[in-house]
Amino acid sequence: MFDYGQKVMEHFANPRNVGEIENPDGVGTVGNPVCGDLMSFYIKVEDGRLADVKFKTFGCGAAIAVSSMVSEMAKGKTLKDAMMITNKMVAQELGGLPENKLHCSNLGADALHKAIENYQANSGQGTAKCCCPYCDGCISPQESLCRTCGKTFVFCENCHQPYLEGSKQCPHCGVK
Ligand code: FES
Repeated sequence: MFDYGQKVMEHFANPRNVGEIENPDGVGTVGNPVCGDLMSFYIKVEDGRLADVKFKTFGCGAAIAVSSMVSEMAKGKTLKDAMMITNKMVAQELGGLPENKLHCSNLGADALHKAIENYQANSGQGTAKCCCPYCDGCISPQESLCRTCGKTFVFCENCHQPYLEGSKQCPHCGVK
């Protein structure tokens, strides 16, 4: 049994903002390269702020608690501030996660950022920025190196997300 803190257990037992938004302004889905679980975020944007944030997570208790916390942290924030939420901040806000569950927290902020980027791309404000699926770093599609963790990537031809060079399958969309 994992040693989850009280806050993690509380968000796992009563996750906030679960579900899908009808006609969302942006959607972001991220797959966990370690376990293959999936997290999707749906956003509604009004006056440059996240008016609504919902999620659907196919993953473990830690991933559900992380999604719930991300949705709470992001709601009402400007897009710029929401883009500054990192996976590390989410884990901290939850009072920490067991070491071997930290990979689960790597989905949260990334999925939210992807939803925001999707909104920006749809509304013609593309930022051409992606998040490293292995750490908190941001990488640009012009580069194939994460300057934060030093991993090198290729970009999936199907979903255009980065994945580790040499991997046989894109962890985001599953295309081989
Ligand atoms: Fe897959 Fe936690 S074990 S997200």
